[in-house]
Amino acid sequence: MIVVTGATGNVGRPLVQALAAAGEQVTAVSRGVSDAAVPEGVRHRQVDLASPESLRPVFDGADAVFLHDGGAGVHLLSPQGILDVAKAGGVRRVVLLSSQGVVTRPQSPSHGRMGRSIEDAIRQSGMDWTILRPGGFASNAFAWAETIRTRRTAAAPFGDTGLPWIDPADIGEVAAAALREDGHAGQAYELTGPALSTPRQRAEAIGDALGEPVRFIEQTRDEARAQMLQFMPEPVVETTLDIIGEPTPAEQRISPDVERVLGHTPRTFAEWAVRNVAAFR
Ligand SMILES: NC(=O)c1ccc[n+]([C@@H]2O[C@H](COP(=O)([O-])OP(=O)(O)OC[C@H]3O[C@@H](n4cnc5c(N)ncnc54)[C@H](OP(=O)(O)O)[C@@H]3O)[C@@H](O)[C@H]2O)c1
Repeated sequence: MIVVTGATGNVGRPLVQALAAAGEQVTAVSRGVSDAAVPEGVRHRQVDLASPESLRPVFDGADAVFLHDGGAGVHLLSPQGILDVAKAGGVRRVVLLSSQGVVTRPQSPSHGRMGRSIEDAIRQSGMDWTILRPGGFASNAFAWAETIRTRRTAAAPFGDTGLPWIDPADIGEVAAAALREDGHAGQAYELTGPALSTPRQRAEAIGDALGEPVRFIEQTRDEARAQMLQFMPEPVVETTLDIIGEPTPAEQRISPDVERVLGHTPRTFAEWAVRNVAAFR
């Protein structure tokens, strides 16, 4: 049985679907998970990861776990508490959703230092581990959903700076492979999309999916910061602005790892936009 934390998230949702479609027994975990959030027949449990002890019954009889690195919601957790409970339940394999920023922004308190300490705990867990280090998610474009729906506009800073945004469905597929198959233990995969795309190009791609133009509005860094601070902690906002404004060569590199693991190229941003167009109608 495979436990998926963050099961209602951008990665967790397609991961649960991929595992269930492959015939695996899955337990989907998040605070608000419900029947509506998982495929029919998938077991789910509402658990707050801030209380690792409440995971004890969930891990009973589990072989593997997919674990968030912390993220905005899970940030203050001790991964050690979760790993201890998982091991006690018999879990032998852990796949961690970490971030490329652990390597590319080592001095950042949110991306580098916090992420590194969680990765270290996983490496020292005694379980078979695989670390996933994605760059920016295509799904961050959901932040434009309301203005695109109501005004057909999308505002962002650094309109012509490209990054290889990754479709969370590809991260979910790689996670499913690492959870189900042998041969991924001790690997850290860097996960990116197949090409650089700029905010201006992404707004255009959503317009193409809608069949109506979306007007791009270039923000200043200060305007973007003020907006992002409404839903993200300050250190996360600053590092995110650094990455999208002045990416390092490593952050703009197209990684071969998705194709290496899955045998197909990563999905494009345009494909993500078509699949998720309902959010922008
Ligand atoms: N977004 C990016 O560009 C990016 C890039 C690289 C790495 N990452 C990493 O990817 C991860 C997911 O990112 P995201 O922002 O896209 O997440 P997300 O999709 O919003 O998913 C967050 C998930 O965590 C669950 N969750 C939150 N707090 C929880 C708690 N206290 N206890 C149990 N479950 C909890 C949420 O469900 P409930 O609300 O139902 O609990 C949800 O299922 C993060 O760890 C982030 O560091 C993101």
